[in-house]
Amino acid sequence: MTNTIVEPDEATRLRNKVVDELCADGNLSSPEIEAVMRKVPRHAFIPDTPLDKAYDTYAAVITKTDEHGVQLSSVSAPQIQAMMLEQAQVKPGMRVLEIGSGGLNAAYLAELVGEHGEVVTVDIDPVVTDRARRLLDEHGYGRVRVVTADAAEPVPDLGEVDVVMVTAGAWDISPAWTAQLRQGGRLVVPLRMRGLTRSVSFVQVAGEHGPYLESESGRICGFVPMQGSTAHREELLLVNGTPEIGLKFDDGLPADPHRLDNAVTTPRHELWTGVTVRIQELIDTLQMAMAISLPGFCTMAVDEDLDTGLVAPVNKRFSLAAVEDDTFAYLVTRRTEDDKHIEYGVHALGPNAEQFADKVADVLRDWEANRRGGPSPVIRVHPADTPDDQIPADRVIDKVHSRVSLSWPSA
Ligand SMILES: C[S@@+](CC[C@H](N)C(=O)[O-])C[C@H]1O[C@@H](n2cnc3c(N)ncnc32)[C@H](O)[C@@H]1O
Repeated sequence: MTNTIVEPDEATRLRNKVVDELCADGNLSSPEIEAVMRKVPRHAFIPDTPLDKAYDTYAAVITKTDEHGVQLSSVSAPQIQAMMLEQAQVKPGMRVLEIGSGGLNAAYLAELVGEHGEVVTVDIDPVVTDRARRLLDEHGYGRVRVVTADAAEPVPDLGEVDVVMVTAGAWDISPAWTAQLRQGGRLVVPLRMRGLTRSVSFVQVAGEHGPYLESESGRICGFVPMQGSTAHREELLLVNGTPEIGLKFDDGLPADPHRLDNAVTTPRHELWTGVTVRIQELIDTLQMAMAISLPGFCTMAVDEDLDTGLVAPVNKRFSLAAVEDDTFAYLVTRRTEDDKHIEYGVHALGPNAEQFADKVADVLRDWEANRRGGPSPVIRVHPADTPDDQIPADRVIDKVHSRVSLSWPSA
């Protein structure tokens, strides 16, 4: 044995740096996943990307956009891949279905299942599957099966798998995914609920009235949207009929959207709540608290070119908001004097601005008192025909193929 020290090349150095970062920030804890992420050359699956972009821990590499600039395909950020692999708990010998191909994640999965396991990856876009097939073959993963199809349908000749890992943003749970999952198997999916996306790890639970899915964990994430027969777009309500203020609803518009027409004719009511958070604090449960408690929950975007200052959100592209009859409100923030915290405020517009701002502020104060720092809501997925009385929950969201419920864990 020689003790010659071989200097790692730049790509290996950057890859190890990414993995070190993921271990340090808590996204990566399993030694098996760590070893695989150190081994598989990420940059080789994004061949035209500069090394520093390929090895950015927290950024995806976009590989396809449509004519309007909407992102259609990407190789996900290392942070997202590590987080979802941890959620999926893939073991040697398992059969895994990956929905949304890129090549890289399928290579990780192939390493994790080993020679006695099996990985099938399916993508709706033949350009993506052609590239994935070529890259997988080039880098020694010829045993991964690559299929071009809408994954809303069962994959031909697949049989049952131990894990279904969805890597496109889903609004609904396709019945094909659960049908292909063995009893006790795991479904990991970036699921959009009331406009908020969480990567959720689900297991199937045998309930009194039939099986349903129950979440083990849910982590904030962003993803390119699902295409094909289960694609679902948010609906946009333009306040006052102009694109200046757009309210986005994930599950249908309010019953009478015209009631908001006069909301911007009265002065804006502004309220500071006294609810403060640390600058880096994760506020996923605050978002969920609003989505659960406010029936008219939505998100707001302002067109910067048309902005006349009717609303003044801190983030013009995405603010948490809600509507109640003829009034709407959105969250704002300001730095506190110590410059280490931000305080939440509420702006409300419409005839009931004062009362509605109070109501939204109460949701924030309730979050601070009861939910802050605590567990996320449990997410359950029931068949679409499940009656209300069989879904005890804090909020039920109706999809096409499923009913998704959100429940705060009891203390
Ligand atoms: C984020 S990319 C996948 C990333 C990939 N898993 C990786 O290795 O990083 C999402 C992919 O989902 C695909 N997709 C979207 N809707 C789909 C559908 N209904 N069926 C199959 N694939 C779909 C898109 O074409 C896109 O390539």
